[in-house]
Amino acid sequence: MDIYKVLMSILWRNATTKDKNRPVIQLGMSKNSTGKKIAVVTGSSNGMGFETSLLLAKYGFHTYATVRNPRRAKALKDISDKGELPIQVIELDVDSDKSVKDAIDRIYKESRRIDVLVNNAGYSLLGALEDLSMDQVKAQFETNLFGPIRVMKSVFPIMRKQREGGTIVNVSSMSGRLGFPFLSAYAASKFAIEGLTESLVYETQPFGIKLVLIEPGITKTNFAENGRSPDTTVDASSPYTSLSQKILKSASTLMETATPPEEVAKVILKAVTTDNPDLRYRTGNDAEQMVEARSAMSDREWQQLISQQYLA
Ligand SMILES: NC(=O)c1ccc[n+]([C@@H]2O[C@H](COP(=O)([O-])OP(=O)(O)OC[C@H]3O[C@@H](n4cnc5c(N)ncnc54)[C@H](OP(=O)(O)O)[C@@H]3O)[C@@H](O)[C@H]2O)c1
Repeated sequence: MDIYKVLMSILWRNATTKDKNRPVIQLGMSKNSTGKKIAVVTGSSNGMGFETSLLLAKYGFHTYATVRNPRRAKALKDISDKGELPIQVIELDVDSDKSVKDAIDRIYKESRRIDVLVNNAGYSLLGALEDLSMDQVKAQFETNLFGPIRVMKSVFPIMRKQREGGTIVNVSSMSGRLGFPFLSAYAASKFAIEGLTESLVYETQPFGIKLVLIEPGITKTNFAENGRSPDTTVDASSPYTSLSQKILKSASTLMETATPPEEVAKVILKAVTTDNPDLRYRTGNDAEQMVEARSAMSDREWQQLISQQYLA
């Protein structure tokens, strides 16, 4: 029997066998004693995290807008201090085991549940792989991949014990589906979060924990300014300088017509308030069109298109 037939017979057998140990999944989310569902958003100081925290709070979630550095979150603190929205700012650095544990412990102590987690914190590392140090590449994975893993591992036990489970949104990127020049480390971290999330679904589904990937295209935030790059991006001695400068130029042009972060927040709200969300949501016409176009092209055709568009 070939491997395909073996796999199909296992899948079919499992699909038709009633597993008595499997918990019953209840749809809908209940509330805590304050009468609100609880949401946690990472990287809320600005950009998509800021807009998502605001929109979830406006919708009625008691929202923990977490930030790496509370001193850089004045706008959020002001909103929280006014008390018009159910929003609370707390410190959470996704790179740190202790910071994640302290934050999630505190949230659980106060709220006794977490209904929604949005793993949004992240940054881009732009540069030729040869010019990047190993520390820079590891740091990129620390924040964009190990960060969400760290937060999810803290939140899983809480959601698993809740009768209603919960929803976890991992903010990926169209760079989690497509490779772009000089974004190899960033794309690798986002491809990884895609593979991780797509695999995790099978582990969390039996406990009513839903997983969602958001794949934004270019979005008008401080993402480019907050991105990191090796000094060699602007150093004429690097053999990659002229190519990387072309990329920087096209990137800044693309930012002008980028999607507003409020649009991404709306898609996240939709995903976490839908009983049966899709695994993937793309945001922005660029992400929509490029992922579609890629699937209709050969590798060679795609590489030619990207080279012409960004490097010619
Ligand atoms: N903008 C785009 O074009 C675009 C496209 C596709 C995907 N994305 C993804 O969307 C997400 C949000 O990006 P954005 O566009 O909103 O960028 P942004 O405006 O630069 O916001 C990024 C947020 O992540 C936070 N952050 C970075 N490292 C952190 C850490 N170790 N712990 C906790 N927070 C940390 C930043 O905090 P600080 O203020 O402390 O730096 C900031 O609040 C990222 O995952 C990004 O990869 C962005």
